[in-house]
Amino acid sequence: MHGFSENTLKEYKNIVFFTGAGMSAESGVPTYRGMGGIWHQYNWEEYACQQAFDSTPEKVLEFHDLRRQKIFGCKPHAGHYTLVEIEKQHSSVSIITQNIDGLHQLSGSSNVTELHGSIWRVCCDFCQDISLDYGAIYASKVCYKCNRWVRPDIVWFGDRLSTEVLRKVDNIVKKCDLFFSIGTSGVVYPAAGYLYLARSNGAKCIEINPEPTDSSPLFHHCIRGDASVILPGLFQSVD
Ligand code: OAD
Repeated sequence: MHGFSENTLKEYKNIVFFTGAGMSAESGVPTYRGMGGIWHQYNWEEYACQQAFDSTPEKVLEFHDLRRQKIFGCKPHAGHYTLVEIEKQHSSVSIITQNIDGLHQLSGSSNVTELHGSIWRVCCDFCQDISLDYGAIYASKVCYKCNRWVRPDIVWFGDRLSTEVLRKVDNIVKKCDLFFSIGTSGVVYPAAGYLYLARSNGAKCIEINPEPTDSSPLFHHCIRGDASVILPGLFQSVD
């Protein structure tokens, strides 16, 4: 397909970039599935659900400390910076990310909604106090206020997503007329449903992923390749 220029982007009112782990892969953040995926190495039942945290909180927090160490220091790549430029050129650009690494914000994108929370925040498992904790390892694994365990403020398997975030994202996706899905396998709901919502509301839907996904047949265009290469190429004249 042809690339997008500043002018062709203006033909669209509301643009959504929906991103998954593949968006961060070239920054050095491991994906969840596929080669080298986190869930091949670790059982999520032991590390990424409330039941695991309830029975072995220290083990779960150590796992998340390892993830923090891996992610801390990772830098955004050219694909992230392309989205920053597009946001400067167009009046309605929304990034909806399943990623918990904060790389979109670090690159300078401002309109970012985190569907699955952030590894750089903790939430007290008892008093629910949420605080920032940005660093390679946890500054504290217990709540400053009540001294109980904190858990990462991220969505684990079996957790409910915040109603407020879901409502916000639904509204953004319903209104969009150009929807990019970048680096996601599209198997985790409700995130995976946004393609259907965008498509049923008439948006043009484009997938950017080196591999086909189960959802590929539903996109108008599938572009095969890495986010750091495809994005700058696709939006060449937007800078
Ligand atoms: P996955 O690991 O399931 O999928 C990553 C996708 O990125 C795959 O389709 C890869 O082909 C693609 N990919 C790999 N390298 C890429 C690159 N350089 N450029 C573009 N794409 C690339 O990750 P997600 O779909 O994000 O949830 O996973 C969804 C959710 O499942 C995560 O948010 C997490 C996980 O369990 C929770 O923890 C709640």
